[in-house]
Amino acid sequence: MKIAIFPGDGIGPEVVAQALRVLDELSLPGLTLFEGDVGAAAYHRHDHPLPEETLEMARAADAILFGAVGDFSCDDLPRHLRPEQAILGLRSELGLFANLRPAAGFPGLEHLSSLKPDVARSIDLLVVRELNGDVYFGEKGERDSDGGREGWDAMSYNEAEVRRIAHTAFRTAMGRGKKLTSVDKANVLETSRIWRETMIEVGRDYPEVALDHMYVDNAAMQLVKSPGQFDTIVTGNLFGDILSDQASACVGSIGLLASASLGERQTEYGTFGLYEPIHGSAPDIAGQGKANPVAAVLSLAMLLRHSLGCEAEAARIERAVEGILTDGVFGGDLGGSASTGEIGDAIVRKLLTIS
Ligand code: IPM
Ligand code: MG
Repeated sequence: MKIAIFPGDGIGPEVVAQALRVLDELSLPGLTLFEGDVGAAAYHRHDHPLPEETLEMARAADAILFGAVGDFSCDDLPRHLRPEQAILGLRSELGLFANLRPAAGFPGLEHLSSLKPDVARSIDLLVVRELNGDVYFGEKGERDSDGGREGWDAMSYNEAEVRRIAHTAFRTAMGRGKKLTSVDKANVLETSRIWRETMIEVGRDYPEVALDHMYVDNAAMQLVKSPGQFDTIVTGNLFGDILSDQASACVGSIGLLASASLGERQTEYGTFGLYEPIHGSAPDIAGQGKANPVAAVLSLAMLLRHSLGCEAEAARIERAVEGILTDGVFGGDLGGSASTGEIGDAIVRKLLTIS
C-alpha cells in the first residue's frame, strides 16, 4: 500500500505531521510512504507548483494525503505558477472528478456551531462537488473593453461530465438517506439547465432516491436556516466550493472537515483518491501551533476507508477524534487553547484506548 504525502504550504505541513503520527500509531503492515513537493514549497524548489516528479509519485500511489497550498510569497506570480495550480492540476491530471465533503455535527458539541444548538444538532449532510469542470477549468483571459481591462472565465458542463458526477451522487445517496438535492442556478445559467436536465435523466436509474432541485442562492439560505433537510447535495465545482465552506461553519469550524477526491481508477485495495482538509494553508498562522489538525486526521480516516479498504482503522480514528472533542480538547478555532501538537497528542492517546 503506497501513500504519497504532499504537505504543501502554510499550516499544511503541521497538520499533516499530526495525521502521520496517527498513521504511525496504527502500525499498518506493508505501508510505504513517499513525500513530494507541491504548491509554493515546490515553486521555490523546482520553479513549478506541481513538478513532474510529484505527478509521477501521485500516479504511482494508491492514495494521496494532501495538506494545503497557497502562500503570500506567490501572490504576484502569473496564475499558471500559483500554488493553487498544484491542487487543481492534481485533480484534473488524475481524473479526480468527485469531491466528497461530509459535514455532520459532533454529538454534544453543538455549542461549537454558529447556529442554534438544536439546528446544529440536525446537520448530517454530504456535499458531492464536481471537481474537474465548471468555470474553474473553462477558458479564461483578459481583453480590452470600453470599461478598461476585462477579465473573463467561461463556465460550462457537458452531459458526460454531469452524468458521471450524477452517478456518484446517486450511489452516495443510496448509501445514506436516499435523498439527493441538486444545486444549480437553472433560472439564469445554460450550464445549469443542462446540469438539471441530466440529473433528472440519470435519476431515472435510481428510483429509490428522492431527487429535488434547489437554486444556489436558496440553498445557501436553507443551509443556515434548516440544514437538517439535507442528506446528500450534488453541485458543480464553484457552488460546491462555496457551499462546503458554509457547511463547515454550521458544524463548528473549517478545521474539522475532511474531504475525499475520487475518480474512476481502482487500486488493489479500493478507489484511488486524494484526501485533504477542506481548509486552506492559512499562512498568517503557519508555524505557530495554532492550526487544528482534526481535518487532516479525519482526511486520513477517509483515505484508509476509501482507498485502502481499512474501515476498522478509519472508524477507530473517527472515534478518537470524537473522544478528544468530547473531552474538550479544543484549539483556538474552537475557543480553546490546545496547540496543534497537543491536539495530535490527545488523538494518539485516545486511539490507544479504542480497540
Ligand atoms: C478547496 C479550495 C480550492 C478550490 C483552492 C485552493 C483552489 O478552496 O479545495 O475548496 O477552490 O477548490
Ligand atoms: Mg474551497
